Amino acid sequence: MSNSDSIMPEHPPVTDWVHDFDHTDPRWTDDPFPIWDELRKTSPVVHTDRFLGCYLPTTYDAVKAIAYDTEHFSSRRIIVRDVRPEIANPAPPITSDPPAHKPAKQVLLPPFTPDAVKKLEPRVRAICNELIDDFIADGKCDAAERYSKHIPVRAIAHMLGIPEQDSDLFIKWIHEILELGIRDNDVLMNAVHEMAVYFATHIEARKQKPTDDLISDLMKAKGPNGQPLTDEHVMGSLRLLLIAGIDTTWSAIGSSLWHLARTPSDRERLIAEPELMPLAVEELLRAYSPVTMAREVMKETTISGCPVKAGNMVLLSFPAANRDPAMFPDADKVVIDRKENRHAAFGLGIHRCVGSNLARMEMTVAIEEWLKRIPDFRLDPAGKVSWSQGTVRGPRQLPMLFGKAR
Ligand code: HEM
Repeated sequence: MSNSDSIMPEHPPVTDWVHDFDHTDPRWTDDPFPIWDELRKTSPVVHTDRFLGCYLPTTYDAVKAIAYDTEHFSSRRIIVRDVRPEIANPAPPITSDPPAHKPAKQVLLPPFTPDAVKKLEPRVRAICNELIDDFIADGKCDAAERYSKHIPVRAIAHMLGIPEQDSDLFIKWIHEILELGIRDNDVLMNAVHEMAVYFATHIEARKQKPTDDLISDLMKAKGPNGQPLTDEHVMGSLRLLLIAGIDTTWSAIGSSLWHLARTPSDRERLIAEPELMPLAVEELLRAYSPVTMAREVMKETTISGCPVKAGNMVLLSFPAANRDPAMFPDADKVVIDRKENRHAAFGLGIHRCVGSNLARMEMTVAIEEWLKRIPDFRLDPAGKVSWSQGTVRGPRQLPMLFGKAR
């Protein structure tokens, strides 16, 4: 975590997870799994008065029921925060409810088909190798700082047609919006503003001279009324692709490498049986799902027998659903060749992830290229692994040593 965390107001530590949970508590950030197990044993849905009132479903069934129920649960707020500022700067389709959701999603689908993603694969392989070239001779690296962090941001910059060198700027905004912004609205609004100015410049430039990239494609796309999308809509979608596509995949790649660093048997199997990769990627997504979204309760209802009241938020934990033993046998174990695996890492219902093909390709390529060049690696006992807090969970410091342990 960055130094700027010190400016955040501290939350009182949790003493009763069942009645007073807090997903920003350091114990949750470090190791949420035993907490979810405890909560799931007590009730499928629990509540906290923190964050101005928030529910947490921990079973697969409860998470699914909420994700599919757009009548009682709105996506107009998708992050649980200390504050509930006025809704500004929406990011369609993720912040849209029916009927606006469907047309907003449809314009985003073409660049993420399996065929479109396949075309991007050689560039992603090259990015991975360029990154590895920079640190392999050192015999060690921070795999989050030097590797996983850079792959999705460069891939998406390449797709959008913006300079790959601007990656650090995007990483800064994402940290400010998704992490620091939970507690500090000024930081959040400032990051949103900087991003808007940045994209406005790129949109203006393409009005003068269209380009062959995703920004120009969005500008040419037609909305539900047959008219081109407004600049504001294009801007919202660009903001969403950056926010949704980068630290999610960066986290998934980081958690996968973290697991493989600690589990030589899985590493060796993947090297000996590369055909297991598709199953392994699904299992790593299930076990270390990075993304927890939110909903706002619009009307009173009941979920898995638990009453849910309007005006509260819901922390929609796809990661907790994926650890539910009623849905997945040996839910707490990573079974690298798990066959039956209907996990919810990419969400459930109408908001299911647009970028899942891209994310799977990036994870596969990042793990394959790493294993080809660094078949033996382990966590550096002299360093410390740290995890991001809040909406997206993944390693932010991941010190590794290469070669066999002596
Ligand atoms: C491992 C990586 C990823 C994970 C785990 C992930 C997970 C998710 C989840 C759980 C949702 C559902 C949100 C909800 O229900 O409110 C979602 C939506 C979305 N994701 Fe991803 N995502 C990943 C990568 C990506 C990438 C690479 C992109 C695009 C570049 C992307 C774009 C989107 C978009 C646009 C939505 C909104 C869809 C809608 O509202 O209909 N995601 N993602």
